[in-house]
Amino acid sequence: MSISIASPPHDWNRKGLPGWTYSNKHLFKMEMKKVFSTHWQLVCHSSDLSEPGAYVTFDIGNERAIVVRGKDHVVRAFHNLCRHRGSRVVGDSSGVCKNVLTCPFHGWSYNLDGTLLGASRASTLPKLDPVKWGLKPVETEIWQGFVFIRFKKGKQGSVKSLMQRFDEELAPYELDRLISIGGDFVFAEAEANWKSMRDVDNEGYHVATAHPSLQDLYGKNYVDEPFINGTSRSLGQFNESPSKQWSVRRYRNFVSQLDHLPEPQNASWLYVAMFPNTVLGLYPDSVIFYQDIPIGPKQTIQRGAVYRYPNETRLMRAARYLSGRIDGLTAGEDLQLTKWTDEAPLSSGFDRILLSDLEYGVATFHNHLRTILPIVNEETEPDPQAIK
Ligand code: FES
Ligand SMILES: [Fe+2]
Repeated sequence: MSISIASPPHDWNRKGLPGWTYSNKHLFKMEMKKVFSTHWQLVCHSSDLSEPGAYVTFDIGNERAIVVRGKDHVVRAFHNLCRHRGSRVVGDSSGVCKNVLTCPFHGWSYNLDGTLLGASRASTLPKLDPVKWGLKPVETEIWQGFVFIRFKKGKQGSVKSLMQRFDEELAPYELDRLISIGGDFVFAEAEANWKSMRDVDNEGYHVATAHPSLQDLYGKNYVDEPFINGTSRSLGQFNESPSKQWSVRRYRNFVSQLDHLPEPQNASWLYVAMFPNTVLGLYPDSVIFYQDIPIGPKQTIQRGAVYRYPNETRLMRAARYLSGRIDGLTAGEDLQLTKWTDEAPLSSGFDRILLSDLEYGVATFHNHLRTILPIVNEETEPDPQAIK
């Protein structure tokens, strides 16, 4: 398989988004409405819902959903919103319920397919049709085992159509067979705008100086590709030269003994990203996802999970431990860079980002956002009334 390297056109915009876009609360509201509610969000993998009644909840902006496996084993998503007074039907981030979802406020209960099972003190209410008064469904797509939801239809195509260009490359990972290792889906929290987190993650120019472990693992062979129709790909093929760090050295040694993937996937970390906020990391020992969930103009949660392969051997498990260790170090380094990236536009000396060819992925991400929200082209902060 050949690695395609898209080179930037000559006339691309080397300036990042204007500084005001990283803190403006009106723009933040607009982003939640026009970007996050109309684009697919990855909630979990089917293996996180291992039995009927298993559920995972997902909050973004003013929206909240519950994804639950039914008695018929079908995975469905609903607004996590009781039809009585709108309470959350489920308060936890994940768990298993027994055949029924019962609202903690007044006890209305719902079947796992969302239909209303019954209201408490039903004689005090009009007769309620179980379907009409059931939990409201949220659009769902299961792509290779991963459960995506979308609160409102937008221009974004299906996950399948967006990811199609990676089908051949992803096939050997058999993503639909992955197994959850558990966890609460929260990786980190940052006092930063979500775009600052994406800006740091959307380029590999900083790997050589900021990520010693990644540089040791694949720095010499790392390639970023730009966002094309809302998806991007990066590939880090492991360096041939000996590793300086023991964890990388041992990791590469362990991985070299695994034989379930073809070349170059067997000695690479592959990242596939989907606009606006989701990244899959495909490793020879495990698969991860992470996504940035905006909480406020200056607050973002990084959500994610780690999955193991179904045929995991002791060696693979040891490799997974080490890849997690390398990822943990990298995430800590990126959080610091995100903080500095995010505070920069607040300074009177800030003059927007100047992007190198190696940061073309950041430019194409910004361009995608410019298309959806043309107001971000304004050089200076517009009046609040203009941001709508
Ligand atoms: S809000 Fe759910 S039962 Fe009243
Ligand atoms: Fe980084």
